[in-house]
Amino acid sequence: MAEVTGIAPPTREAERPLTGFTRTEANSYRTKAINNLTVDSTQGEWHSVKGGLRPDQDRSRTPSEYISYGVLFNPQTRTWLKVVPPEVTDTPDQEKLEKTLRRSVDQQRAALQVAGLPDLASQIREVEVVDMDGKKVYGFTSPHIGPSLEYILYKTTKSWRGRVKNPDAADFFSQVYSMAADQAERLYLEFGIWTSDPSPGNILLRQDENGIHVVLIDFSNRLQEYEYLYQRVSKERYGPEGYINKIKSLLQTNVRQLHRRFYQYCEKRGIPFIRDPQEIETNIDNSVAVVNARKSLQEATTAPSTSHE
Ligand SMILES: Nc1ncnc2c1ncn2[C@@H]1O[C@H](COP(=O)(O)OP(=O)(O)OP(=O)(O)O)[C@@H](O)[C@H]1O
Ligand SMILES: [Mg+2]
Repeated sequence: MAEVTGIAPPTREAERPLTGFTRTEANSYRTKAINNLTVDSTQGEWHSVKGGLRPDQDRSRTPSEYISYGVLFNPQTRTWLKVVPPEVTDTPDQEKLEKTLRRSVDQQRAALQVAGLPDLASQIREVEVVDMDGKKVYGFTSPHIGPSLEYILYKTTKSWRGRVKNPDAADFFSQVYSMAADQAERLYLEFGIWTSDPSPGNILLRQDENGIHVVLIDFSNRLQEYEYLYQRVSKERYGPEGYINKIKSLLQTNVRQLHRRFYQYCEKRGIPFIRDPQEIETNIDNSVAVVNARKSLQEATTAPSTSHE
């Protein structure tokens, strides 16, 4: 039986031929079923590893509450596929789930840009998948980015809920979470993308010649809400200096709210959550809202007077 792990496969597995996987393990997820799918006209064996119908489904709730997106992995190409679950085809939930997943594709590309990985961003593809349980479904593929923090924490603490005890390990995870929060701040402040679930499963690490990159994934959850950025603050009411400060303080409040989930996840696992206030200040200074506000003040002061003398 062939198998492969999501991180570097042990030599024993790596020496095996890269075909005919009957079971896979990627980022600790194991094969639930193998699906022979045509993904954008290319046929392949995709291992369903997560999602779809939840086993504890409570049918009295609406389908979107007990059905989640399907997550599949192709061990031959080391590609991930996330799909609208076929169970919702032709139900009122199909449109809602598809819309959110479609929107998440550009959000994922932005997250890879912010992570300093534009090459990976350009490899994210929207696809049509046939036939998934006899249905044609919408999805997107992404190359294997690297191990999740969830997986590394499991390896480090030997438990799915374990707390990090070793001070060096705690320091490492703390730096990773700080980098992830920095990216989430920039995604919000520069792109209007809100990271609502920074769980360790949604933070990946990728090693390349430049070192270790931290990558945020999974923008498809339903709490995701797009909020745009303070055109409503009145220049007249606050005056030039006060106007910029008011926008900054609103952004500060939202960044603090953004940090709340980061803090909660860190707290659970014994990881210190530390953000450098100077970094946050810089991110806020570079935000769309502040940059635009400065520009509009400048335009107002340099514009030729329109008053008639
Ligand atoms: N490109 C990728 N590279 C590495 N691992 C990935 C990639 N895409 C997904 N994964 C793995 O699959 C897991 C599930 O993916 P994802 O977080 O997108 O779905 P989900 O949590 O099931 O989504 P939702 O909560 O929206 O239903 C991730 O935690 C990660 O371990
Ligand atoms: Mg996830």
